[in-house]
Amino acid sequence: MSKKSKGPDDVVLYRRLLSKVRPFWTRLLWAMALMILVAGASSAMAYMVKPVMDDIFVAKDRAMLVMVPLAVIVLYAIKGTCSYGQTYLMQFVGQRIMTEFRVDLYAHLQKLSLSYYDRVPTGELMSRITNDVNNIQGAVSSVVTGVLKDLFTIFGLIFVILYRDWFLGMFAVGVFPLCVIPLVKFGRRLRKISRRSQETMADVSVLLHETISGARIVKGFCREDHEIARFSAEAERLFQLRMKDVSTRAISSPLMEFLGGLGIAGIIFYGGWQVINGHSTPGTFFSFLTALIMLYEPVKHLSNLNNDIQNGLASATRVYEVLDTPPQIVDKPQALTLPRLRQGIEFRDVSFAYRPGETVLNHINLNVPAGQLLALVGTSGGGKTTMVNLLPRFYEVSEGAVLIDGVDIRDCTLFSLRSQIAIVTQQTILFNDTVRNNIAYGRPEASEAEIVEAARAAYALDFIERLPSGFDTVIGEAGVLLSGGERQRLSIARAILADRPILILDEATSSLDTESELYVQKALENLMRGRTTLVIAHRLSTIQRADRILVMSEGRIAEEGRHEELLALQGLYSRLHRMQFAVDQGLEVGGVA
Ligand SMILES: Nc1ncnc2c1ncn2[C@@H]1O[C@H](COP(=O)(O)OP(=O)(O)O)[C@@H](O)[C@H]1O
Ligand SMILES: [Mg+2]
Repeated sequence: MSKKSKGPDDVVLYRRLLSKVRPFWTRLLWAMALMILVAGASSAMAYMVKPVMDDIFVAKDRAMLVMVPLAVIVLYAIKGTCSYGQTYLMQFVGQRIMTEFRVDLYAHLQKLSLSYYDRVPTGELMSRITNDVNNIQGAVSSVVTGVLKDLFTIFGLIFVILYRDWFLGMFAVGVFPLCVIPLVKFGRRLRKISRRSQETMADVSVLLHETISGARIVKGFCREDHEIARFSAEAERLFQLRMKDVSTRAISSPLMEFLGGLGIAGIIFYGGWQVINGHSTPGTFFSFLTALIMLYEPVKHLSNLNNDIQNGLASATRVYEVLDTPPQIVDKPQALTLPRLRQGIEFRDVSFAYRPGETVLNHINLNVPAGQLLALVGTSGGGKTTMVNLLPRFYEVSEGAVLIDGVDIRDCTLFSLRSQIAIVTQQTILFNDTVRNNIAYGRPEASEAEIVEAARAAYALDFIERLPSGFDTVIGEAGVLLSGGERQRLSIARAILADRPILILDEATSSLDTESELYVQKALENLMRGRTTLVIAHRLSTIQRADRILVMSEGRIAEEGRHEELLALQGLYSRLHRMQFAVDQGLEVGGVA
């Protein structure tokens, strides 16, 4: 962002953030009232130093000996109570706003189209929901809680200073800003260092994520030492930055104190001279000095505030960047509710490109009557997955139209469209939840009997019953480890239970070994029964009984027909078949009944 555009952008940003704060104005007013009391009590402490000195120590007044300590107790009690209430109210507002931000962001991410997820790395999005929202919170709470309390306290203390000795007070208050200059300077340097160490921290996280989740590869290629060296280099970089940070901080504080000491020495000389000459009392002098010393804290806070604000604004920009991205695929204003599929699916002259100019699908025409089994085969990268992803509108066609029962799917609600389709892919996605909830994911209201039936039809019942707690076993990272075939059968059970008329199988068995593939095949047979199915298969033997086979190549339908017809063509299909046959002979794959 250029310096020039920063101004108005910041104003817009402040305004948006403020609009988030507005609903909480009553709480904020209360908090402000409490802050004034806290600031008043702090200043009163400085004020009280004079009666302590002059009345108790110098004049030896016994009545004051009781009164003053009582007053101190009352002041501390007031200060403590108000400070608690003030912090609680302010944090309530800050935390509430952050929770809203988090939920808004998450809800928005759920609405964004898949093309957005293709573009932005997962880690990036996660860090916006966690780190950036935390940063905003830091800024909001330090601004709202800090600024006013510090300002009120500074006003109160300056009042005491001027009241005690206005001449010296003017001098001290005038000199004070000079002490702030080094603070600001150090602050800037610290910010630079801290930004760099944040970046290094991020690098370390990426490295950790890569090498921990890729532990198998690291070990397999014997690269442990290399990874250790890489990690220790990053850790060393972090060490250097941290030490720079520490030494800057460690210098700034003694330096500040030394400057403060110079000032205090001057004040002691002048003040002492006044007292010795009888122009002032020790109480006045110490009260003055106390107020001056107490000024240090709130002023230091205020000078650090800018760092927090800059951090928070940068993060807010990143958060709004996500929130302001409109979802590309949404319901039309008067979208239809698509009834359950009756006639069939049609691709009418469909072309598609992920990026403009890079055509992935080229004028595809296709009719799939309801109840048919259509198989898609072809070279890798030929556009098979892309084609089936157009059906649930994960991506929008660039040209042409996809129709269900003669209705353009862009005219239907996404909900009614997607609730007709079940998808089983190569990567099985199971959630960190019980087996039961994983199966019922697409139909949470399903009865126990239906869930068990779906598991049986998916050939999953046997192994589920062998799990430690059966259907209540939690699967996922911390839970039970399932084999690829077992995971796949659970996801098939999920699809069976969801009972959608259209089924998409995208290489559902390609990552499995022969034995589990056999079970999964049988489970798939049960799943496909009575549905309109688009199946992408790498293994030609599994699709020989398809009603129709499309051979895709470079975004076009190269060949089309039944197994025998395609073989007779002696084209791409028969070539793929010969290659597959050579592989299968080694594997001895049995046919599927
Ligand atoms: N999300 C994506 N963004 C950009 N290009 C993609 C994306 N997914 C696939 N492609 C490209 O589109 C082409 C077709 O891919 P795909 O449909 O996955 O082929 P297949 O499933 O037949 O192997 C490939 O060239 C691939 O690189
Ligand atoms: Mg694919």
